[in-house]
Amino acid sequence: MTRSLTIPRPDDWHLHLRDGAMLRAVLPESARHFARALIMPNLMPPVVTAAEAHAYRDRILAALPEGSSFAPLMTLYLTEETDPEDVARAANEGLVQAVKLYPAGATTNSASGVRDFDRVRGVLERMAEIGLPLCVHGEVTDPEVDIFDREAAFLDRVLEPIRAATPDLRVVLEHVTTEEGVAYVREGGRDIAATITAHHLVINRNHLLVGGIRPHYYCLPVAKRERHRRALVAAATSGEEGFFLGTDSAPHPDHAKESACGCAGCFTASNALSILAEIFEREGALGRLEAFASLNGAAFYRLPVNGSRITLTRQPSEYPAKIDTPDGPVTVFDPGFSLHWSVSA
Ligand code: DOR
Ligand code: ZN
Repeated sequence: MTRSLTIPRPDDWHLHLRDGAMLRAVLPESARHFARALIMPNLMPPVVTAAEAHAYRDRILAALPEGSSFAPLMTLYLTEETDPEDVARAANEGLVQAVKLYPAGATTNSASGVRDFDRVRGVLERMAEIGLPLCVHGEVTDPEVDIFDREAAFLDRVLEPIRAATPDLRVVLEHVTTEEGVAYVREGGRDIAATITAHHLVINRNHLLVGGIRPHYYCLPVAKRERHRRALVAAATSGEEGFFLGTDSAPHPDHAKESACGCAGCFTASNALSILAEIFEREGALGRLEAFASLNGAAFYRLPVNGSRITLTRQPSEYPAKIDTPDGPVTVFDPGFSLHWSVSA
């Protein structure tokens, strides 16, 4: 049995750090294990311009624990008013690695997102020219579409028309949750990839709803049927270059989750790597964890693989049940099984 695994330090290609006191409380959890993370821009108000991304990056760097070399990679929040030249300048300076598309109303702080996709055509064309990826929250917001069908509907109704109109656009289908999404990425060539979260590899919709409603398993896109979870596990453990880790670790204080209208988000920054090692071991795919967590994302974003390395050892993993923050405790995602892999260096 494999007892230890050394891989290049992983990156998290989809992370919510928030701001202020919450940022300071949760940042050490990601900085401990990850070398870099792609930081989501859905603050209140959102990070729309290069100047806002610059200021947000400075606040993240100022909040880092002493001596940490964690690098935040920034994104811009796409609105119908986004200036293509502001985006191009930010990309050329190396300030931003991607632009994030939230369909308006799809999820947390997405109200300033896109309603009319024709109105962002100019930005998408400029991004295609310079090779800057578009990260998409892939769910339609049409109230007529069932929440469990919203990702599959997005592929046909929104993503396919965008890609047909802008064929060179590079796209990341964020937090893919369906077998349709996995198939779309597999068939889509080298300009499309998907991130997969740790929690969507663990839970299906029964975990969320059977025997009582579990607010800490509620996230968007919502967990789907077991066959979809199986498709995600197969994709993540395949080693295929189009699939890589984006935790979507999204802190909300417990009072905001354990509520009559609970917020969407699972907080996995503390135990995502231990969960992944467990899943990959069960699949007999520990040797492909490196591709998923450390290699494929860097290749897609055309960045070097991290020079430093981490070692995972087969010993019980300790992680806190909750992170204390000035806004109240944040519950760490409970996979529902014990974790046998710890990050040791
Ligand atoms: O579960 C989620 N939480 N999904 C998202 O798309 C947003 C995120 C958040 O910001 O809390
Ligand atoms: Zn997210």
